[in-house]
Amino acid sequence: MSINLTGESLIDQLKKVEEQAESECRNFTSLSELEDFRIKYLARKGVLAEIFENLKSLSSEEKPQVGKLANQVKLKVEGLFERKQQELKSQDSKRGQQFLDYTLPGQKNWKGGLHPLTQVGREIVDIFYGMGFEVVYGPEIETDYYNFEALNIPKDHPARDMQDTFYLPDAWLLRTHTSPVQIRTFEKRKPPVKIIAPGRVYRHESINVRSYCVFHQVEGFYVDTKVSFANLKGVLTSFVNQFFGKDVKLRFRSSYFPFTEPSAEVDISCILCQGKGCSLCKQQGWLEILGCGMIHPEVFKNVKYDYEKFSGYAFGMGIERICMLKYGIDDIRLFYENDLKFLKQF
Ligand code: DAH
Repeated sequence: MSINLTGESLIDQLKKVEEQAESECRNFTSLSELEDFRIKYLARKGVLAEIFENLKSLSSEEKPQVGKLANQVKLKVEGLFERKQQELKSQDSKRGQQFLDYTLPGQKNWKGGLHPLTQVGREIVDIFYGMGFEVVYGPEIETDYYNFEALNIPKDHPARDMQDTFYLPDAWLLRTHTSPVQIRTFEKRKPPVKIIAPGRVYRHESINVRSYCVFHQVEGFYVDTKVSFANLKGVLTSFVNQFFGKDVKLRFRSSYFPFTEPSAEVDISCILCQGKGCSLCKQQGWLEILGCGMIHPEVFKNVKYDYEKFSGYAFGMGIERICMLKYGIDDIRLFYENDLKFLKQF
């Protein structure tokens, strides 16, 4: 657009600018077109700036009139620009919402799961619950009395060597097994008591594929009049058949625990080779799964149960061990590494 310097021609030009801007603006469909428009009319070196520059050379009579018109046209063009900008932006965002790319891969939902030890622990407890056992929990921080003394393991007893203990200040310790729950229960309740007590236990052992400083046990015990070793065999056989399957055989091997007499360890026929001999059972055909026995009269004396009148059995098993056998896991440390590649398999 050429510019000349009379008032009249500036008025003409302003009118043309107004018309032209209006008609151009109407057809824009993109923000980039609108930006070109802004540069053309409103920028520092744009058409309107040039007209304002030329106002300076008008006579003082013409200047106010033309100046007023120039301001009106400038406001009008600015208004056109702003309105169109808003319109285009809102169209853009609506289009963005409607656009759905069906070829994009879906978003994966990660689902959490229970730790294999939690699963197996619950499975074990559920089976005993089904046989009339009540679930009880005991503290993980214990005293020497509950963890050893009351279970007929006196201070100088060689059995204490079996369990290296984490001792805490003020004569506290971390329980080395779940058997203290027996004592805590007997102190509070009179027979009959039929209880299953799952929980975490601690041993100051070197960490390797077979042992870890923390692990889990399930303790079971039943005290009543006339509880016999045959009852113990019955309940454990039922448990093994429910957990490992009907065809799995049991073997009671005589053993020693200070808090039971007689004591036994239970082996099951190897679930991998069915007793023929393989690397899991070290060619023995049998796998050890738990310790058990008839509760020792000394234990009953400590909790003031009448050992002439009552008898009871007890057993204890390691959840890690059972879980490793069930799933063929060969390294106990896997349970504590929180490696999702391992955990996701359960
Ligand atoms: N408390 C024993 C341990 O940690 C396991 C055990 C053996 C528990 C025999 C019992 C039992 O109740 O009768 O090695």
